[in-house]
Amino acid sequence: MIKNTDNSYGLVAKSFHWVLFMMLSFSIVAGNFLADMPKGAEKLEAAGMHKSFGAVLLMLIMFRLAWRLVNTTPRLPDETTAKEAFLAKAMHWGLYVLMFAQPLSGIMMSQAAGFPVSFFGLFEFPVFLNENSELAKTFLSIHGTVWILLVIAVFGHVGAALHHHFVKKDNVLKQMTKGA
Ligand code: HEM
Ligand code: HEM
Repeated sequence: MIKNTDNSYGLVAKSFHWVLFMMLSFSIVAGNFLADMPKGAEKLEAAGMHKSFGAVLLMLIMFRLAWRLVNTTPRLPDETTAKEAFLAKAMHWGLYVLMFAQPLSGIMMSQAAGFPVSFFGLFEFPVFLNENSELAKTFLSIHGTVWILLVIAVFGHVGAALHHHFVKKDNVLKQMTKGA
């Protein structure tokens, strides 16, 4: 099934979910290597790759959100309480906010620091922030914090998925893992 149904996520939502899981994990590790590199030509080159890859991620996250908004989402298990339903919703939207905040803060940090953001050298993103070193520092600290919040949220998210599968023994994890 390409689209989501009442009982399961479809192929597109599953692909977005797992491809973005891998790409986000990779970017978090790569970003940490980048932050530890000494200033110089090598760091500039690595930063260029990290930024272009981050821009691809931003686009994928936008497409993923659009796809979610035009689709149904699978129904929660019947025994879900109102509080649990609220928590599940809040967690999903919180994950979206954090996914967006990471690349956006990266782009704003670069622009405020006076570095253009290029897409694999093919074109440059329009500049919407003037150079401002104070602002660059603020976005750097946001960029250095949001990924930690994302990792913490994902631990909670995985914990909830495993709880559904092994304790409640319902279909929630299978909805995101089972083939079409
Ligand atoms: C979802 C996509 C992205 C992820 C997961 C990500 C992740 C990270 C992480 C974990 C760090 C290390 C932060 C630290 O501990 O200080 C980092 C550093 C960095 N990121 Fe990103 N990033 C993403 C997108 C971007 C984008 C789109 C840009 C710019 C256009 C960018 C620019 C940078 C720069 C310049 C650094 C190095 C900062 C320094 O020298 O300390 N990132 N990134
Ligand atoms: C970067 C890491 C992750 C992020 C940002 C993330 C984000 C999300 C989001 C936003 C949803 C809602 C559906 C959607 O809009 O696509 C979702 C659903 C789901 N995720 Fe993740 N996820 C991550 C990693 C994982 C991992 C490692 C697991 C493995 C246990 C997992 C299991 C699930 C399950 C079972 C669902 C369906 C649950 C439901 O609908 O309540 N996720 N995830």
